Amino acid sequence: MDTQIFAQVDYYISNLLANEDSSLIHARNSVTDLGIPQQCISANQGKFLQTMMKACKAKRVLELGTFVGYSTIWMAKALPENGLLISIDVNKSLLTTATENIKLANVSDKVKLITGTALDILKTFITEKIEPFDFIFMDADKPPYEAYFKLVLKLSKPGTIIVLDNVVRGGKVMDKNCTDEVVQGVQKLNTYLSQCNQVTATIIQNVGIKDHDGMALAIVN
Ligand code: DHB
Ligand code: MG
Repeated sequence: MDTQIFAQVDYYISNLLANEDSSLIHARNSVTDLGIPQQCISANQGKFLQTMMKACKAKRVLELGTFVGYSTIWMAKALPENGLLISIDVNKSLLTTATENIKLANVSDKVKLITGTALDILKTFITEKIEPFDFIFMDADKPPYEAYFKLVLKLSKPGTIIVLDNVVRGGKVMDKNCTDEVVQGVQKLNTYLSQCNQVTATIIQNVGIKDHDGMALAIVN
């Protein structure tokens, strides 16, 4: 299979429709500076999130998995003046970098970063009965994906759009005997999506500059 063409078309699309400004380039490069694996979404995926946010007129956004804030910046830039994005990450060591990247992008006033265990934080939000979110992007650790999804559903309302990253994993999701806990986590999530009558859902395969993967798209009924 000629996978080079996928990367070339990805660049073609991003040059047309998803140009990174200096703050996004800085955020992506901060991963290299930290010497950790590159796990940022692509520019085109960032534009996809913005497009989905517009579809649901998102004012309140929840992100699971801030990482260095790259996707956070894409989403914050699509928020209206009075918008709010709450982003959760368990990794305390990334907080300084993410905070700095978000500040450089001039979106700090719209972004609230929380460091901690998503399961606990989401349960607290549910207990506190906080206002539901319009748009949710899940890109956190994969083994508890189904548990995260069940909780974020309780923080949603009809019309909320939920996007979940990395649900194809190069096709490994088709392997019923896979012992990789990351793959098992997304398999459970995908199966749950197929049974959950609270959402209308599909999965979009992603090819391009990143490895073959996919994003699930679920709209709350
Ligand atoms: C990887 C990619 C991701 O988008 C992510 O959220 C986690 C891991 C990876 O390529 O391993
Ligand atoms: Mg991801």
